[in-house]
Amino acid sequence: MNPEFPKLSILASGRGSNCEALLRAAASGELPANPVLVLSDNPDAPVLDMARSLGVEAMHIEPGRPRARLTPEQEERYVEALRDRGTEWIALAGFMRILGPGLLRAFAGRILNIHPSLLPSFPGLDGVGQAWRAGVQVAGCTVHFVDEGVDTGPIVAQTAISVLPHDTEDSLRSRVLEQEHATYVQAVTLAVTGCLRIEGRRVHRVSPV
Ligand code: GRF
Repeated sequence: MNPEFPKLSILASGRGSNCEALLRAAASGELPANPVLVLSDNPDAPVLDMARSLGVEAMHIEPGRPRARLTPEQEERYVEALRDRGTEWIALAGFMRILGPGLLRAFAGRILNIHPSLLPSFPGLDGVGQAWRAGVQVAGCTVHFVDEGVDTGPIVAQTAISVLPHDTEDSLRSRVLEQEHATYVQAVTLAVTGCLRIEGRRVHRVSPV
């Protein structure tokens, strides 16, 4: 733990490759943040063991509902667990729940998400599949601040890649994922070092305060 770095928690529901990219970047010093907690709505999410294997506390909290959202009571438990660890920033990394007012208010302007498309195109489930089926020639990923919508918050960073003649949906998916990992580490670094200012829909890069 570097006491000068802010505390970062990660919410994830599945595999956790983006979470792993953030944790490894923090361990190597590339990302100036202290990961304090990985939280999942899914007790069987591989991300939980992955985080523990990297020495980061990981826990499951029941969502209280089968799909889409957390119940307000369970959301309060998420807020409590995050606050207990002194969380200052939250990164969603494949967290399959829409956040409600409890979390959004408790961490206003301090929650980021990674999405596998060039938003505002193809929000929601399976961004790469949607893009592939639409026949796009350029795909990519987006990091954005989280608001009450689904993948609608102010955009922090985007990386675009060309769809290549020999691409399949799977090859495109893995090439986008590779970009997600790098883009997320860079964007979270900008956020936790105070280099971002939100003005309406636009996110400006500023000198750290
Ligand atoms: C990623 O494609 C991310 O952009 C999306 O969900 C997927 C999670 O993958 N929100 P992983 O669990 O980080 O490997």
